[in-house]
Amino acid sequence: MKFFLDSANPEQVQEVLRWGLLDGVTTNPSLLAKTGQPYAEVLRRICALVKGPVSAEVVATEGQAMLEQGLRLSELGANIVVKCPATLEGLRATQALARRNVKVNVTLVFSVLQALAAAKCGASYLSLFVGRLEDLGQDGFSVVEQTERVLRDYGFPTQLLVASLRSPAHVLRAAQAGADIATIPFGIFQQMLVHPLTETGLAVFLKDWQASGQKIG
Ligand code: E4P
Repeated sequence: MKFFLDSANPEQVQEVLRWGLLDGVTTNPSLLAKTGQPYAEVLRRICALVKGPVSAEVVATEGQAMLEQGLRLSELGANIVVKCPATLEGLRATQALARRNVKVNVTLVFSVLQALAAAKCGASYLSLFVGRLEDLGQDGFSVVEQTERVLRDYGFPTQLLVASLRSPAHVLRAAQAGADIATIPFGIFQQMLVHPLTETGLAVFLKDWQASGQKIG
């Protein structure tokens, strides 16, 4: 499973790159607005840092306007993937962008049928928002499992990206449900790589080694 960072913060991108675990980045209008910086500058910076795909979302509601915004966004970096919402207009824009060889991530997907429609429209990725389903008491991960099965059964090349993750346990469940990608907020990324038993175990090993007086190299 690929790990993407769900963030529009170039410093966070740089930090996760340093860990050697970054396969891509997803942004959305809320994350970009939070930076307080011009969106094009932020996206150019992130695209220059990351080799993998960087998702940037259109903010129009009408298909033609989404297409125009998508084409503009795609000029910010060779690795930009344009995010279009899973609305009827968003699906129109997805087809138009895909026909022009622009990669599209269909976002705000909450059901298997929305996912199937996105795949049929030529989406390279689809973003299933499990956390927002779970927030409402619905089983987001059964939607992931069913979507994964439908995409595989019909042989769609669309990659299933699990978004809106709320905890390390959600990342694990995304992996168990067969997601191709988990897009992970920075805090959860840090949390899932740290185990207290690793920290205390290492401290004991180092103390015992120091007490022995031996040296390596
Ligand atoms: C990423 O692609 C999504 O926009 C993001 O994961 C949404 O997360 P949220 O539900 O926490 O806003």
